[in-house]
Amino acid sequence: MGQDKQKSVRGFSKLSKTDKIRWIAENFFKEPELVKKELISFWHPNADQQKILDGFSENTLSNFMLPYGVAPNFIINDKTYCVPMVIEESSVVAAASSAAKFWSNKGGFKTEIIGTTKIGQVHFTWQGDISKLRKVFPELKEKLLEDTSHITANMRKRGGGILDIELLDLNHLETDYFQLKVSFETCDSMGANFINSNLEAFGKTLSQFLATHPVFEGEEKNVTIIMAILSNFTPDCLVRASVECPIAELGDFEGMSANVFASKFKKAVTIARIDPYRATTHNKGIFNGIDAVVLATANDFRAIESCGHAYASKDGQYRSLSQCSLENGIFKFWLDIPLAVGTVGGLTRLHPMANRSLEMLGNPTARELMGIIASVGLAQNFAALKSLVTTGIQKGHMKMHLLNILNHMEANENETAQAVIYFEKNMVSFSSVRDFIVSIRENKTIPTIK
Ligand code: MEV
Repeated sequence: MGQDKQKSVRGFSKLSKTDKIRWIAENFFKEPELVKKELISFWHPNADQQKILDGFSENTLSNFMLPYGVAPNFIINDKTYCVPMVIEESSVVAAASSAAKFWSNKGGFKTEIIGTTKIGQVHFTWQGDISKLRKVFPELKEKLLEDTSHITANMRKRGGGILDIELLDLNHLETDYFQLKVSFETCDSMGANFINSNLEAFGKTLSQFLATHPVFEGEEKNVTIIMAILSNFTPDCLVRASVECPIAELGDFEGMSANVFASKFKKAVTIARIDPYRATTHNKGIFNGIDAVVLATANDFRAIESCGHAYASKDGQYRSLSQCSLENGIFKFWLDIPLAVGTVGGLTRLHPMANRSLEMLGNPTARELMGIIASVGLAQNFAALKSLVTTGIQKGHMKMHLLNILNHMEANENETAQAVIYFEKNMVSFSSVRDFIVSIRENKTIPTIK
């Protein structure tokens, strides 16, 4: 307990960055000097850029680096993209690239925007007469729109704004509980700030309206705005990405015929539609691709994840987000996924690398970005299932794992080449690779490892 007390601090946020680092290094690490140097070594060399990064969060000490890679040759709606991906898991970028290449001579990926509507809610309790409120609701609606017209002016100019306001009576779920359910079009921005500003203003207008409108005269002034916030569940901000080709054109897979491959592949998707244990892993593979592009464009990956998983459970059971059909000799594989992303606003343009990612993608609209992200998710899923129903995933994963270990051992080109050949037929583990490298460095015979 004494030690914990020593480690707590007051006014930490007011310390300078160097003092924060000093306090952390001295209180939590065995080698404070080394830790201080290490934290500082990850600062951006350009102080202005570092200032921008520091501004995104609080109590920042340093930067946490993740690999920034690209998957080239993505043909999406007949346009070729080089897609930036931020991900720490080996094989993901390689898998996306190989699926992109696979589909590039089979028509590529096609996408369709099914909707772009976003949702926000004002949750309130009230003991008034709902039939009276319903009667004057058109008047309230007008007032809500009027009171937020200064907030929506720019968005309306861009073709967006508030689409609809519904009054929901939810007393059957919770006593006195009502909701304003509001739908929005936020064009190229994800729109969280826009939506929340409108909703908070709605809360004020609603309270005032219920307290002062003559229709409620003589009634208790008993409205309580519980909260006003966007919903990250956006089932109507939905995109479909798909690929298709004649089954025969799928080709052979390591000795497996196209027909056998297609039917095993479809079975794998069906299993993920009926079994939540498999569906979770299957969808995780989809999000390997989705999150990587969402991160590279500084979109909100937590929002995308929570929405995607809620959507996967929309019929009451968690299911695969992708689907497959084999009809009339045609292999079709598609993914429907809600993606509330932006290409303006938020960090998308403030983060220097996200800005470059968007430039690399040709400065897409939010709709175009939805299609790109969904295609990468589908590509990732295709690559994972392709490995799973043919060779298994460990072959590819172990190759990457081997390269990581060799990197860690600072293996030179010659050692790496020998190791790659040797571990084609031998089991990769940290100790087996270390023993192998040590033995060739010591000029000893290569260990026999099974
Ligand atoms: C690993 O990150 C993702 C996979 O497990 C996805 C899947 O099983 O479909 C390979």
